[in-house]
Amino acid sequence: KKRVAILISGSGSNMVRLIESMRGAHPARPVLVLSSDPEAKGLEKARALGVPTAVVDARACRGDRAAFEAELARLLDDARPDIICLAGFMRILSPKFVARYAGRMLNIHPSLLPKFRGLNTHARALAAGETEHGATVHEVTAELDEGPILGQARVPVKPGDTPETLAARVLRMEHRLYPAVLERFARGERTPIEMVAEADGNS
Ligand code: GAR
Repeated sequence: KKRVAILISGSGSNMVRLIESMRGAHPARPVLVLSSDPEAKGLEKARALGVPTAVVDARACRGDRAAFEAELARLLDDARPDIICLAGFMRILSPKFVARYAGRMLNIHPSLLPKFRGLNTHARALAAGETEHGATVHEVTAELDEGPILGQARVPVKPGDTPETLAARVLRMEHRLYPAVLERFARGERTPIEMVAEADGNS
């Protein structure tokens, strides 16, 4: 089985879905959850699921990205991952770090890339008057939120949406999209997949 490391910074709901998906005949298994924040809620969820955890405290590195990445690489390499999933990992990685894991690092981003790279994607999609929004899983390359697209999930923008209601609708699709893409990626499939939200009443 392919060895999967998951990098988080926060609540880790995508991480939970990824871990729960890697069961039975799945071609991959989780070997490490690594957080950039010692307070991340996802850490206890990973432990509860029986997955080893580690922390590299980004704040303690005080802007020394080289030191942060050196420690990250050391812990990652100890786990010998075949695949690295960024799942709500809120630190920008240097081109040098990305190059070290070229072709085996995935990220989920809460927009329909190439639209809305970076932060505050839901508020920006609303401000732009989008009628459709969603999430993208892509291979990580040196440029932020670029890299070959492996899957996208679309949701409608509804009248009265706030960034919060829209984020919740997108997140429900992220939870389906990321496990589907990971399973395919672990089998060597690189052709992108598309998902569309089912009509779901008033949510
Ligand atoms: C997700 O919506 C993910 O797409 C986003 O953060 C959230 C993490 O939630 N990622 C980014 O914005 C990356 N720049 P989670 O911790 O519950 O999975």
